[in-house]
Amino acid sequence: MNTTTQNKKLTIAIDGFSSCGKSTFAKQIAARLGYVFIDTGAMYRAVTLYAIDHGMFFGCELNAEQLIAELDNIDITFRYNPSRGAADIYINGSAAEQRIRTIEVSNLVSRVSSVAEVRQKLVAMQQAMGRDGGVVLDGRDIGTVVFPDADIKLFMTADPEVRAERRYKELAAKGDNTPYEEVLRNVVERDAADQNRAISPLRKADDAIVLDNSHMTVDEQMAFFMNLYEQKVCR
Ligand code: DC
Repeated sequence: MNTTTQNKKLTIAIDGFSSCGKSTFAKQIAARLGYVFIDTGAMYRAVTLYAIDHGMFFGCELNAEQLIAELDNIDITFRYNPSRGAADIYINGSAAEQRIRTIEVSNLVSRVSSVAEVRQKLVAMQQAMGRDGGVVLDGRDIGTVVFPDADIKLFMTADPEVRAERRYKELAAKGDNTPYEEVLRNVVERDAADQNRAISPLRKADDAIVLDNSHMTVDEQMAFFMNLYEQKVCR
Protein backbone atom coordinates (compact mmCIF):
# COMPACT_ATOMS: atom_id res chain seq x y z
CA MET A 1 0.00 0.00 0.00
CA ASN A 2 1.23 3.46 -0.81
CA THR A 3 1.55 5.02 2.64
CA THR A 4 1.75 8.57 1.32
CA THR A 5 -1.67 8.20 -0.24
CA GLN A 6 -2.96 6.21 2.72
CA ASN A 7 -2.09 8.98 5.17
CA LYS A 8 -3.25 11.75 2.92
CA LYS A 9 -6.40 13.41 4.13
CA LEU A 10 -8.75 13.29 1.23
CA THR A 11 -11.27 15.86 0.06
CA ILE A 12 -14.62 14.22 -0.59
CA ALA A 13 -17.30 16.03 -2.61
CA ILE A 14 -20.93 14.93 -2.45
CA ASP A 15 -23.26 16.70 -4.83
CA GLY A 16 -26.71 15.91 -6.07
CA PHE A 17 -30.40 16.63 -5.93
CA SER A 18 -32.18 17.93 -2.84
CA SER A 19 -33.40 15.47 -0.21
CA CYS A 20 -31.25 12.55 -1.41
CA GLY A 21 -29.79 12.14 2.05
CA LYS A 22 -26.52 13.82 1.06
CA SER A 23 -25.98 15.45 4.46
CA THR A 24 -26.76 12.30 6.43
CA PHE A 25 -24.43 10.29 4.22
CA ALA A 26 -21.66 12.91 4.32
CA LYS A 27 -21.93 13.00 8.11
CA GLN A 28 -21.65 9.19 8.30
CA ILE A 29 -18.60 9.18 6.03
CA ALA A 30 -16.95 11.92 8.08
CA ALA A 31 -17.58 9.97 11.32
CA ARG A 32 -16.20 6.78 9.78
CA LEU A 33 -13.01 8.43 8.51
CA GLY A 34 -12.54 10.95 11.34
CA TYR A 35 -13.02 13.81 8.87
CA VAL A 36 -14.81 17.14 9.21
CA PHE A 37 -18.28 17.37 7.65
CA ILE A 38 -19.28 20.65 5.99
CA ASP A 39 -22.97 21.10 5.14
CA THR A 40 -22.83 23.80 2.47
CA GLY A 41 -26.62 23.81 1.96
CA ALA A 42 -26.93 24.97 5.58
CA MET A 43 -24.90 28.05 4.63
CA TYR A 44 -27.30 29.01 1.80
CA ARG A 45 -30.20 28.35 4.16
CA ALA A 46 -28.62 30.58 6.81
CA VAL A 47 -28.32 33.51 4.40
CA THR A 48 -31.95 32.91 3.40
CA LEU A 49 -33.07 33.00 7.02
CA TYR A 50 -31.16 36.23 7.54
CA ALA A 51 -32.93 37.72 4.50
CA ILE A 52 -36.33 36.63 5.83
CA ASP A 53 -35.62 38.00 9.32
CA HIS A 54 -34.47 41.34 7.86
CA GLY A 55 -37.54 41.87 5.69
CA MET A 56 -35.79 41.30 2.36
CA PHE A 57 -38.56 39.13 0.95
CA PHE A 58 -41.81 40.49 -0.43
CA GLY A 59 -43.79 37.29 -0.86
CA CYS A 60 -41.40 35.15 -2.87
CA GLU A 61 -39.48 38.11 -4.29
CA LEU A 62 -36.05 38.77 -2.85
CA ASN A 63 -34.60 42.26 -2.68
CA ALA A 64 -31.23 41.03 -3.94
CA GLU A 65 -29.64 44.50 -3.88
CA GLN A 66 -30.38 44.88 -0.19
CA LEU A 67 -29.00 41.41 0.52
CA ILE A 68 -25.81 42.08 -1.45
CA ALA A 69 -25.33 45.38 0.42
CA GLU A 70 -25.62 43.54 3.74
CA LEU A 71 -23.53 40.47 2.92
CA ASP A 72 -20.54 41.67 4.93
CA ASN A 73 -22.76 41.89 8.02
CA ILE A 74 -23.74 38.24 7.85
CA ASP A 75 -21.35 36.18 9.90
CA ILE A 76 -21.86 32.43 9.54
CA THR A 77 -20.08 30.06 11.91
CA PHE A 78 -20.29 26.39 12.85
CA ARG A 79 -19.93 24.92 16.33
CA TYR A 80 -19.65 21.21 16.94
CA ASN A 81 -22.69 19.77 18.72
CA PRO A 82 -21.72 16.41 20.26
CA SER A 83 -25.36 15.34 20.73
CA ARG A 84 -25.87 15.55 16.94
CA GLY A 85 -22.39 14.43 15.98
CA ALA A 86 -22.18 17.41 13.61
CA ALA A 87 -21.69 21.15 13.70
CA ASP A 88 -24.66 23.47 14.27
CA ILE A 89 -24.86 26.70 12.31
CA TYR A 90 -24.93 30.17 13.87
CA ILE A 91 -25.83 33.48 12.26
CA ASN A 92 -24.09 36.42 13.89
CA GLY A 93 -23.64 34.30 17.01
CA SER A 94 -27.29 33.16 17.26
CA ALA A 95 -28.17 29.46 16.98
CA ALA A 96 -30.02 28.85 13.72
CA GLU A 97 -29.76 25.09 13.09
CA GLN A 98 -33.49 24.45 13.73
CA ARG A 99 -34.84 27.52 11.97
CA ILE A 100 -32.95 26.97 8.70
CA ARG A 101 -34.75 23.61 8.17
CA THR A 102 -38.33 24.89 7.88
CA ILE A 103 -40.34 24.55 4.67
CA GLU A 104 -40.44 28.39 4.47
CA VAL A 105 -36.66 28.50 4.12
CA SER A 106 -36.71 25.52 1.71
CA ASN A 107 -39.21 27.37 -0.48
CA LEU A 108 -37.16 30.58 -0.62
CA VAL A 109 -33.56 29.35 -0.63
CA SER A 110 -33.31 29.07 -4.43
CA ARG A 111 -33.79 32.86 -4.71
CA VAL A 112 -30.77 33.40 -2.49
CA SER A 113 -28.56 30.65 -3.90
CA SER A 114 -28.89 32.13 -7.40
CA VAL A 115 -27.31 35.46 -6.35
CA ALA A 116 -23.70 35.51 -7.63
CA GLU A 117 -22.36 37.60 -4.73
CA VAL A 118 -23.83 35.17 -2.20
CA ARG A 119 -22.20 32.24 -3.98
CA GLN A 120 -18.83 34.03 -4.12
CA LYS A 121 -18.86 34.65 -0.38
CA LEU A 122 -19.95 31.13 0.57
CA VAL A 123 -17.65 29.34 -1.91
CA ALA A 124 -14.65 31.28 -0.53
CA MET A 125 -15.64 30.28 3.02
CA GLN A 126 -16.00 26.63 2.00
CA GLN A 127 -12.62 26.61 0.27
CA ALA A 128 -10.97 28.08 3.37
CA MET A 129 -12.68 25.55 5.66
CA GLY A 130 -11.60 22.60 3.48
CA ARG A 131 -8.12 23.85 2.60
CA ASP A 132 -6.23 21.17 4.57
CA GLY A 133 -8.25 18.16 3.36
CA GLY A 134 -9.81 15.58 5.65
CA VAL A 135 -13.22 16.97 4.80
CA VAL A 136 -16.51 15.77 3.40
CA LEU A 137 -18.58 18.53 1.82
CA ASP A 138 -22.11 18.15 0.59
CA GLY A 139 -23.81 20.55 -1.78
CA ARG A 140 -24.55 21.21 -5.45
CA ASP A 141 -21.29 22.63 -6.82
CA ILE A 142 -18.60 21.02 -4.67
CA GLY A 143 -17.10 18.79 -7.37
CA THR A 144 -17.54 21.37 -10.13
CA VAL A 145 -16.66 24.72 -8.48
CA VAL A 146 -15.61 24.57 -4.82
CA PHE A 147 -13.16 21.64 -5.06
CA PRO A 148 -12.85 20.62 -8.71
CA ASP A 149 -9.76 18.57 -7.73
CA ALA A 150 -11.54 16.64 -4.95
CA ASP A 151 -10.19 13.11 -4.48
CA ILE A 152 -13.61 11.45 -4.53
CA LYS A 153 -16.70 12.94 -6.17
CA LEU A 154 -20.14 11.44 -5.76
CA PHE A 155 -23.27 12.63 -7.51
CA MET A 156 -26.33 11.49 -5.59
CA THR A 157 -29.78 11.06 -6.99
CA ALA A 158 -33.04 9.23 -6.19
CA ASP A 159 -36.60 9.24 -7.56
CA PRO A 160 -38.42 12.51 -6.64
CA GLU A 161 -41.27 10.58 -4.94
CA VAL A 162 -38.80 8.62 -2.80
CA ARG A 163 -37.04 11.83 -1.80
CA ALA A 164 -40.32 13.62 -0.99
CA GLU A 165 -41.46 10.69 1.15
CA ARG A 166 -38.21 10.76 3.14
CA ARG A 167 -38.38 14.52 3.63
CA TYR A 168 -42.07 14.35 4.57
CA LYS A 169 -41.31 11.81 7.31
CA GLU A 170 -38.36 13.86 8.53
CA LEU A 171 -40.53 16.99 8.86
CA ALA A 172 -43.39 15.03 10.48
CA ALA A 173 -40.98 13.61 13.07
CA LYS A 174 -40.16 17.21 14.01
CA GLY A 175 -43.87 18.05 14.35
CA ASP A 176 -44.05 19.86 10.99
CA ASN A 177 -47.24 18.69 9.27
CA THR A 178 -46.54 19.98 5.77
CA PRO A 179 -48.60 17.80 3.38
CA TYR A 180 -46.74 15.27 1.21
CA GLU A 181 -47.93 17.00 -2.00
CA GLU A 182 -46.32 20.27 -0.90
CA VAL A 183 -43.07 18.54 -0.01
CA LEU A 184 -43.03 16.81 -3.41
CA ARG A 185 -43.72 20.11 -5.16
CA ASN A 186 -40.82 21.71 -3.27
CA VAL A 187 -38.47 18.84 -4.23
CA VAL A 188 -39.42 19.10 -7.93
CA GLU A 189 -39.21 22.92 -7.95
CA ARG A 190 -35.81 22.93 -6.26
CA ASP A 191 -34.48 20.33 -8.72
CA ALA A 192 -35.49 22.65 -11.56
CA ALA A 193 -34.15 25.79 -9.87
CA ASP A 194 -30.83 24.09 -8.99
CA GLN A 195 -30.32 22.77 -12.52
CA ASN A 196 -31.43 25.88 -14.38
CA ARG A 197 -29.84 28.75 -12.47
CA ALA A 198 -27.35 30.80 -14.47
CA ILE A 199 -24.49 30.58 -11.97
CA SER A 200 -23.03 27.24 -10.90
CA PRO A 201 -26.05 25.16 -11.88
CA LEU A 202 -26.29 21.67 -10.43
CA ARG A 203 -24.58 19.28 -12.80
CA LYS A 204 -22.56 16.14 -12.44
CA ALA A 205 -18.82 16.73 -12.69
CA ASP A 206 -17.39 14.66 -15.56
CA ASP A 207 -15.36 12.59 -13.10
CA ALA A 208 -18.10 12.17 -10.48
CA ILE A 209 -19.59 8.77 -9.77
CA VAL A 210 -23.39 8.53 -9.77
CA LEU A 211 -25.05 7.04 -6.72
CA ASP A 212 -28.81 6.42 -7.13
CA ASN A 213 -30.00 5.41 -3.67
CA SER A 214 -33.74 5.06 -4.47
CA HIS A 215 -33.59 1.39 -3.55
CA MET A 216 -30.49 1.20 -1.40
CA THR A 217 -30.16 0.74 2.34
CA VAL A 218 -27.87 2.96 4.40
CA ASP A 219 -25.44 0.04 4.81
CA GLU A 220 -25.34 -0.65 1.06
CA GLN A 221 -24.66 3.01 0.43
CA MET A 222 -21.76 3.03 2.89
CA ALA A 223 -20.35 -0.16 1.38
CA PHE A 224 -20.50 1.51 -2.05
CA PHE A 225 -18.52 4.47 -0.73
CA MET A 226 -15.95 2.42 1.22
CA ASN A 227 -15.21 0.44 -1.91
CA LEU A 228 -14.37 3.68 -3.73
CA TYR A 229 -12.39 4.99 -0.77
CA GLU A 230 -10.31 1.84 -0.49
CA GLN A 231 -9.57 1.89 -4.20
CA LYS A 232 -8.32 5.44 -3.73
CA VAL A 233 -6.11 4.90 -0.69
CA CYS A 234 -4.87 1.41 -1.64
CA ARG A 235 -3.71 2.30 -5.12
O1 DC B 1 -28.70 20.76 0.62
P1 DC B 1 -29.86 21.69 0.98
O2 DC B 1 -31.18 21.21 0.47
O3 DC B 1 -29.90 22.00 2.43
O4 DC B 1 -29.53 23.05 0.22
C1 DC B 1 -30.37 24.15 0.29
C2 DC B 1 -30.36 24.92 -1.02
O5 DC B 1 -29.10 25.56 -1.20
C3 DC B 1 -30.61 24.09 -2.27
O6 DC B 1 -31.92 24.34 -2.75
C4 DC B 1 -29.59 24.55 -3.26
C5 DC B 1 -28.66 25.45 -2.54
N1 DC B 1 -27.27 25.00 -2.53
C6 DC B 1 -26.45 25.46 -3.51
O7 DC B 1 -26.89 26.17 -4.40
N2 DC B 1 -25.13 25.13 -3.50
C7 DC B 1 -24.63 24.34 -2.54
N3 DC B 1 -23.32 24.04 -2.54
C8 DC B 1 -25.48 23.84 -1.53
C9 DC B 1 -26.81 24.17 -1.56
